Amino acid sequence: MLLTSVVSVLLAASSTAWGNTATPSFDTASANGNGTSTFSGNVTNCPGYTLQNLSHNEHGITASLSLAGDACNAFGKDIANLTIEVVYETESRLHVHIYDTAKNQFTIPDTVVARPAPPTQSHTTTSDLEFSYDASPFAFWITRRSQPDAMPLFDTRTRSLPATPIASTPAGGSSVNLDGFELVFEDQYLQIASALPKGTNVYGLGEVIASSGFRRDIGADPGENGTLHAFWASDMGDPVDQSMYGSHPIYMEHRYDESTGTSSTNGVLLLSSNAMDVVLTTPPDSNVSLIEYRVIGGTLDFYFFAGPTAGSVIEQYGALIGYPLWQPAWGFGFHLCRWGYHNISETREVVKAMRAADIPLETQWNDIDLFQVFRDFTSDPVSFPGDEMREFIAELASNHQHYIPIVDAAVAVTANSTDVYDTYTSGVEQDVWIKNPDGSMYIGQVWPGYTGFPDWFAPNTEAWWTQAFQNWSDSGITFDGIWLDMNELSTFCFYSCGTGANLSDIQPYVGATSVEGWPECYNDTLSGKSGNMTVNGTSTNSCASGSDSSSIGPQKRMSIVNRNGRGVGAGDEPGVDLNSPPYAVHNSYGGLNLHTIATNATHAGGYAELDVHSMWGLMEEKATHHAVQTVLPGKRPFLISRSTFPSSGKWTGHWLGDNNSTWQNMYYSIQGILQFQLYQIPMVGPDTCGFNRNADEELCNRWMMMSAFVPFYRNHNTYGALSQEPYRWDSVANASRIAIAARYSMLPYWYTLFANSSTAGTPPVRALWYEFPNEPELFAVDKQWLIGSDILVTPVLEPGATTVDAIFPGRGNVTWRDWWTHAAVNATSGGTTTLPAPISTINAHIRDGSALLLHQEPAYTIYETRLGPYALLVSLSAAGGAFGTAYVDDGESYPPGDSRTLTFVANPGQFRIQSEGAYDVAQKLETITVLGVAQKPSGVSVQGRAVGNFTYLPATEELVLSNLGLDLNEGATVNWH
Ligand code: NOJ
Repeated sequence: MLLTSVVSVLLAASSTAWGNTATPSFDTASANGNGTSTFSGNVTNCPGYTLQNLSHNEHGITASLSLAGDACNAFGKDIANLTIEVVYETESRLHVHIYDTAKNQFTIPDTVVARPAPPTQSHTTTSDLEFSYDASPFAFWITRRSQPDAMPLFDTRTRSLPATPIASTPAGGSSVNLDGFELVFEDQYLQIASALPKGTNVYGLGEVIASSGFRRDIGADPGENGTLHAFWASDMGDPVDQSMYGSHPIYMEHRYDESTGTSSTNGVLLLSSNAMDVVLTTPPDSNVSLIEYRVIGGTLDFYFFAGPTAGSVIEQYGALIGYPLWQPAWGFGFHLCRWGYHNISETREVVKAMRAADIPLETQWNDIDLFQVFRDFTSDPVSFPGDEMREFIAELASNHQHYIPIVDAAVAVTANSTDVYDTYTSGVEQDVWIKNPDGSMYIGQVWPGYTGFPDWFAPNTEAWWTQAFQNWSDSGITFDGIWLDMNELSTFCFYSCGTGANLSDIQPYVGATSVEGWPECYNDTLSGKSGNMTVNGTSTNSCASGSDSSSIGPQKRMSIVNRNGRGVGAGDEPGVDLNSPPYAVHNSYGGLNLHTIATNATHAGGYAELDVHSMWGLMEEKATHHAVQTVLPGKRPFLISRSTFPSSGKWTGHWLGDNNSTWQNMYYSIQGILQFQLYQIPMVGPDTCGFNRNADEELCNRWMMMSAFVPFYRNHNTYGALSQEPYRWDSVANASRIAIAARYSMLPYWYTLFANSSTAGTPPVRALWYEFPNEPELFAVDKQWLIGSDILVTPVLEPGATTVDAIFPGRGNVTWRDWWTHAAVNATSGGTTTLPAPISTINAHIRDGSALLLHQEPAYTIYETRLGPYALLVSLSAAGGAFGTAYVDDGESYPPGDSRTLTFVANPGQFRIQSEGAYDVAQKLETITVLGVAQKPSGVSVQGRAVGNFTYLPATEELVLSNLGLDLNEGATVNWH
């Protein structure tokens, strides 16, 4: 794995190249934790709080909370005086904020995550949610107003719960006890727990690759361990059950009542950037499960979302943090990338080879190979000369293709004035860097050698960053979008590289040149080192599939080893230990200061890294979004970024990071895509064909097909691994052409779903249960997904398969029709149906009652596809009805200009199109296909005029009207009898 190799290279180097150069005049942190603290501080003795001085106002209540006994000082110092504010912000959103009355603790500034304006009307008596409390010991609970007697949605009356073991951490760490559930509020430790219905369905709490799947393990069933997830942005390449790139402390709970067969969904956000552990578990012999938060700073800033459906919870969350950015239409095209396109000729060759193989390529990317000695905003004068790059990108543009380069978070520092690197020197002049506590520049080390890191809190940083993009574009890198990497922040020094580091000893990274490892079941002794195999739809290798132990990263450390850190920095709050917080969060590196900048690093305004760490990516995304808007005015910025935080989706999309070329990782990417819909960052996808390791033909074939049905579609590969562009294997080329054509024909549907997401927060990709919430057999399904409400995707996720098991939601009351053949599926109600799935095919099915606007002629690029005519695919319900909408605009303007909304309604024997809006749709609607017309009509009319040449296919109950030439700027009516 890349990270392992980087880490081991650096460890090995520490006594040679790097070790002796860093002579710090200050030191940074030791590993967080005092070497012993895990779950058992003195939390059992914590006194809790008493509520007093309650006052009601138009929007809720305010009260004080005072410590109800002697301080327990479990992992810091108890704060005696707290304030609680409860605000009924909307009918479906309730805000409960518990903070230190003196307001010394960190809360996320509005400049980072903008919160909505205060309510203008009162919702206290009408809201779907209700806040209740016990004054002493203080506890609160949230109920649905409509169900006052039901178990509360959130209930902190957990004081008397017994100590609760977590058999092991999901990553296999030693067993631990949760031994206290009282409210604790200390300067460095906040604890709060809520009871949940035993074994309820919980989703979210990431970014994570959960071994349990999209639905989290709550420890209620035999064999379940419960979940311990740490929140701390970490450059950890796709580990299982551990903290990774993004931090999203939101969960969605789906509650199903077996006795009535009904359900409802709610959501809870703890809006905090502080490092935390969140535990889901079920106490022994208890009739409840619980969630406990263990946070090492900040305040308890909760938002509750009433739902009551998954879609509405996600929308309500979006209304709070901001809806996702508008995507340009071209962003949905196929993207091709790798680390290891060494020069412009190789990059050009790839573009040509894609064209020669007739595999649509929308956007060509370059990784850090582009840079001169790995420096941001440069291009290597020999391998990627600016003038040639300008020409190359112009050529792409003339073919309606696009170009995206990488930008790393770390900016190289230069040692002397003869080494000209304006990004660094202007950054120094404008004072844009994150600092050490002594005010000197914080030095890290990434690909270019020693580096600094922009401080987004500093007043000049965004303008400096924008200028860097402008200069870069002027120098020939005339990008269309930007790829933001390493922004957790990632740095390879363990702790700071030191203020006194000898900056002249700049040694850029030297990458590995060959990569080991294959997908499960690829036998390189048998099949050679090529990745080629005979994929003819029969099993090519026999082995137990789907196991990939190497993707399981290092175990969480249950007690942190003090790594002889060098921290002596001071934070703003007296007595707070920035370097070694007493409670040890179980993050993936086993220490908050590892592989990232030190927790005592200092930001403008006095913010400590300890508080703001996980928001660096978000702040960079916002600044970059604005920078791209400046360089490309009037265009929708297209950004893909690695580290994300609540509200990142306003500025960027996301890729799922450094996965492996394994079947298991292909499967894991589905839960990643589903999670990021909940996090309001819907433009998301994996490194298709896998990043680390070598891909083989069969895996790449299946993965290219699968990813054609997810929002962000990019094939990306690591340095030194076997080439995996889709043209490399004939079968993959063929599969890709088929899948991309389907994707491009569906573009109007994707585009509409994303417009709904940007205007209402509606998730474009959905777990099956979102649409069928009362079918418990769907609650854990994460090998299939729905695009919108109407397309069900069932990929093959195993080697050697020729069939795939699918579950068809609706328990027999929904007719699912095959996307490719239009044939209705004879589905098993509530169980699995085995479908044929030979290589180079993928199962996709259309829900009945739907009407989808499509492009009739998918072409090489999105631009050319959009120039072609439209088609409509209508799938009638048993009652003969269907409904759908389409949003159409120019696909690129920002802010979006005129648009047109088309509404499609079918009733028995009739189909109507309603058209509204000012956007002029130039392309005509040529074909309408109606599925589910039981008998051949004896007559068909369009706009009252009889149509003679319709086709009827009895086997698929399909009525096809062609060459219609309908103007979509006007409504239309089709009748048949
Ligand atoms: C790490 C990123 O996750 C990966 O996608 C990229 O190829 C390498 N950095 C090199 O830039």
